[in-house]
Amino acid sequence: MPINKLQITQLRNINWADITPSADLNILFGINGSGKSSLLEAIYLLAHGHSFRSSAIRNIISRDQKQLTIFSELTLGSQKIPVGIERGINHARTRISGKNIKSLAELVSLIPLQFIGPDLQKAIEGGPKDRRKLLDWGVFHVEHTFYRCWLIYRKLLKQRNAALKQREQHQTITSWDSELVKAGSRLNDYRADYLKRLLPYLDKLLQEMFYLTGIGCSFNQGWSKEFSFDQILQKTLSRDIKSGFTSCGPHRADVLFSYYGRAAHEQLSRGQLKLLVIAFKLAQIQLLQTAHAKRCVILMDDLPAELDIENRARVLNTLLDSDAQLFVTTTDSALIDCSELREDKSRKMFHVEHGSVTEVVQ
Ligand SMILES: Nc1ncnc2c1ncn2[C@@H]1O[C@H](COP(=O)(O)OP(=O)(O)OP(=O)(O)O)[C@@H](O)[C@H]1O
Ligand SMILES: [Mg+2]
Repeated sequence: MPINKLQITQLRNINWADITPSADLNILFGINGSGKSSLLEAIYLLAHGHSFRSSAIRNIISRDQKQLTIFSELTLGSQKIPVGIERGINHARTRISGKNIKSLAELVSLIPLQFIGPDLQKAIEGGPKDRRKLLDWGVFHVEHTFYRCWLIYRKLLKQRNAALKQREQHQTITSWDSELVKAGSRLNDYRADYLKRLLPYLDKLLQEMFYLTGIGCSFNQGWSKEFSFDQILQKTLSRDIKSGFTSCGPHRADVLFSYYGRAAHEQLSRGQLKLLVIAFKLAQIQLLQTAHAKRCVILMDDLPAELDIENRARVLNTLLDSDAQLFVTTTDSALIDCSELREDKSRKMFHVEHGSVTEVVQ
């Protein structure tokens, strides 16, 4: 759902900004430290309720100020949906269409947003948690009951782990198992089905856009496929009692990337790893748009970093070809080649300077 209005107050070095973005491409340019990433941070905060670079809100609120606000208007067909957030050191308020919301999930599902930042390769180099997050972004947006299921699973797992840690009786430990198995098996099915649907999009992008062949992508559900979740919980019970936690289950799931049969992070260059993560995110966006008619917002911070000229152009063109609303930052607007921008697509340029944002009329 595109953002057609954005007002920011007191966020990092942005005291006040008021822009009307294009529904297609927005280029934010300015020198180092001018406030480009801060503007993306505002959009990210609006869509997620938290930032991509700081967990403490006090770091994001402008120095000497007590709170920040972000107000936006989203377009859904002919409908306009106002969304606003206010964050202070000790208070938080989020409003959609004039009503306070209770769960941030409402906000996240309203604005499917992908962030493509400078440390992308970490999703593959890092631990399974990062890759589960990568996968679950898409599952969340296509399966409406996924989030509820995940909340139930997390709560039951916590209770089971607490019982394991306190070395409770077997009966107490396993008393949650039937509900845990129900929620966990659904979670697992959602993920497995989703990845199966995603792979054709990913393969096509990797081969036709980025000329990366030999990439494999598979799902590790968090326990051996030989057993059902129920069976593995029973099989590992004595081990779990000894270690004090549940060793197998969807909380251990992973997405495995390979290159000609070997671990991708051991074989690919950093630029190639970045392209792989970009392709994965793009595939998710394409699936969401094609099969679920949901438009995404993409934030791309510092696009050129570590990509060569050709790959930079390929990434940008593929993004432009998708129906997403794009915000791209750069220190040099000449690095963003828009020559292949489709005629039906609109573009706006914004100059960011000392925290103020001005549209550049072309
Ligand atoms: N809480 C804060 N209050 C005021 N200013 C801040 C705060 N936090 C960061 N800044 C400043 O905001 C400025 C903008 O930072 P930002 O990361 O948005 O710059 P940028 O344009 O993305 O730069 P680069 O091109 O180097 O990535 C910086 O000068 C930074 O020091
Ligand atoms: Mg920046």
